[in-house]
Amino acid sequence: MKIAIIGTGYVGLVTGTCFAKKGHDVICVDVIQEKVDMINQAIPPIYEEGLEELLKQTVKEGRLKATLDFKEAIQKSEIIFICVGTPSFSNGLLDDKYVRSAATSIAQAFQEGQEYKVVVVKSTCNPGTTTDIVKPILEKSKLTSGKDFGVGMNPEFLREGVALKDFLAPDRIVIGGNDERSQQLIAKTYEGFEAPILQVDPTTAEIIKLASNSFLAMKISFINEIANIAEKIGSDVSSIAQGVGMDERISNKFLRAGLGYGGSCFPKDVSALYQKSKELNVPSKLLEATIEANKIQPLRAIKLLKETLEEESLKDKRIAILGFAFKPDTDDVRDAVSVPIIEKLLAEGAIVYATDPVAMKNFKKEIENENLHLLSSIEDVLISAEGCILVTEWKEYKDISPAKFLELMKNPILIDGRRAYEHDRFIESDVKYKAIGLGNK
Ligand SMILES: NC(=O)c1ccc[n+]([C@@H]2O[C@H](COP(=O)([O-])OP(=O)(O)OC[C@H]3O[C@@H](n4cnc5c(N)ncnc54)[C@H](O)[C@@H]3O)[C@@H](O)[C@H]2O)c1
Repeated sequence: MKIAIIGTGYVGLVTGTCFAKKGHDVICVDVIQEKVDMINQAIPPIYEEGLEELLKQTVKEGRLKATLDFKEAIQKSEIIFICVGTPSFSNGLLDDKYVRSAATSIAQAFQEGQEYKVVVVKSTCNPGTTTDIVKPILEKSKLTSGKDFGVGMNPEFLREGVALKDFLAPDRIVIGGNDERSQQLIAKTYEGFEAPILQVDPTTAEIIKLASNSFLAMKISFINEIANIAEKIGSDVSSIAQGVGMDERISNKFLRAGLGYGGSCFPKDVSALYQKSKELNVPSKLLEATIEANKIQPLRAIKLLKETLEEESLKDKRIAILGFAFKPDTDDVRDAVSVPIIEKLLAEGAIVYATDPVAMKNFKKEIENENLHLLSSIEDVLISAEGCILVTEWKEYKDISPAKFLELMKNPILIDGRRAYEHDRFIESDVKYKAIGLGNK
């Protein structure tokens, strides 16, 4: 099939390259010249495992290219996926300005007598966006919905870090076409995917996406609360989670306690559904609690650090931070918990030395402070530190030995914010190891 992808970020570029791998002809459209040039040179503008290889292959085979030109991309395509960003408004709802602008450009590129096309929203959006916002914008083209074009919503469930695998082998494909013809065309794009397909209306598809992420976020906030209780009681949340997760009705996924969820999806998606529920006058206590619990969880790392240091104040203390990315294997720092942790440390007067193997460039835009030093070497960050907080469980950080912490740090305190280390490795060492949800037995 001939496919246009509007927006070449994490979702758009992965969607485009994976569809090209499946044999479709893909044209990616973005508004940023630099991204378009990079894609045409087979250089991914984002970091994602395996993407560079696949992009090289599909560009070389002539099955994927990028352009700034909407007209060319839209006219050559039977199906158009909108994959632009939907950041949060300050009230929590998702800002649809990029979706509107993409839809406007698509409408302007429509031509009378064109072959039937389906415009599919893949971006996560507020319930009703596809039907009440995107469709009317497309209708301004004077073409007729249902006759000249169709609309649909096809939420994306990929996770950064394993995005290609998730896209190519999803648990399910949700298709929210507004009529039978659109449903069929969208389903045809996914021929050859071995996943169950659920066909619903566009608004239901939008809610499925928000509800799925909210549920996963709620599971994380839940186990984090259990972790905080376990710490006080002197138990280990890992064993608790193992026991709870062995129940198939619950499952052990998303039951790892830590410093809270972050990233470009969970925080904004939960807030969007919560805000929508308030607008509808059916406020959700569970969504509210999920958000509140996640706000305080990152700061537990600082509380643990102070307790271990036996100090009320962190003023002038040199603190090491390992990791900015919201999770390993991505350079994404959007809503990463590293931000509130470092902000709080700086507010308390600490001098922060921090590192990340791939997210350094993105993090530089987040916080600027004379007491924050971003360094590329783990050793330079740990040296003379009076405490270290592991924020992102990158493999290279998990491999740091207790001896290394001892050798480099002035005061070898390690706060494991992600339960990344085997506790036993530290028992015999002089490193003071504390972890979320690990009570003193
Ligand atoms: N990142 C994830 O893991 C993930 C997973 C599932 C769903 N989603 C959802 O998918 C959507 C996209 O997320 P993302 O992380 O890929 O965003 P992103 O910010 O990485 O990428 C968005 C891209 O759209 C481009 N763009 C903006 N306006 C445009 C326009 N008018 N025309 C063409 N291009 C335009 C931007 O230049 C950028 O390249 C969001 O709604 C997000 O919630 C993201």
